[in-house]
Amino acid sequence: MGCCICLLEESPFSYEDVVELIHLSFKERINQGLHFTCSYMSVEQFQAKMNDGLVIVAYNKESGQLLGTASTHIYVDNCNHTYGYNEYLAVHPSVKHCGIGTLLLNKRLCILQERGAEYVISDTAVGAKSSVKWHLKNGFVIYGYRSFSGTNYYSYLFRKQLIGRSKWDIWLYRGIHFLVSFIKTRIKYTRTGRERRFFSLINKLI
Ligand SMILES: CC(C)(COP(=O)(O)OP(=O)(O)OC[C@H]1O[C@@H](n2cnc3c(N)ncnc32)[C@H](O)[C@@H]1OP(=O)(O)O)[C@@H](O)C(=O)NCCC(=O)NCCS
Repeated sequence: MGCCICLLEESPFSYEDVVELIHLSFKERINQGLHFTCSYMSVEQFQAKMNDGLVIVAYNKESGQLLGTASTHIYVDNCNHTYGYNEYLAVHPSVKHCGIGTLLLNKRLCILQERGAEYVISDTAVGAKSSVKWHLKNGFVIYGYRSFSGTNYYSYLFRKQLIGRSKWDIWLYRGIHFLVSFIKTRIKYTRTGRERRFFSLINKLI
């Protein structure tokens, strides 16, 4: 299959096509009972979110079928390091597990490296086993645990170093960070990202 991977603006596809594909791909997660916010987002919401980001698409050159999509934002952290935040990775159900997700990742990493990013961050639901496996297979490591509002699950935070080495390569450092964030998140937040009553009461009192 001749697969073309490029930026959305260089492709024949529109934001509408991309959101339709995201909804189709994430049906798998809805069926698992995992409510990813992108499963329900509108074209306007996606467009607004990606206004300052990059949207990549993969499509079949011969048939013109849209096969997958992935997005990235580029930020600068408190230590002045440039990094990417990967989101909205979605592969068409007919071609899942055929390497499209990995091709989309490689394209994102190339763009991020060209733009000076030193590392890349991503997140996914703890229960989205194929996505967790996919991240680990592609060299990401789990470094944190979070609860995001608008979802109904706890999430793993992933990280992949692109340039040089970092303290996050040390499994003990990472492990301790993960454990602390796991305990803090589970004590303080419900899986829907809501602060537990005890903590919101304390916050109101001080
Ligand atoms: C998760 C997803 C993006 C992976 O993309 P893909 O193109 O199917 O995956 P690739 O072919 O690039 O990579 C295959 C690897 O991913 C993992 N994987 C993918 N599908 C899997 C499945 N059904 N079960 C278990 N592992 C799976 C495995 O590690 C696999 O390697 P292996 O076969 O050697 O074990 C895709 O299945 C998808 O779109 N899922 C629904 C939306 C979603 O969850 N997006 C990610 C949110 S962060």
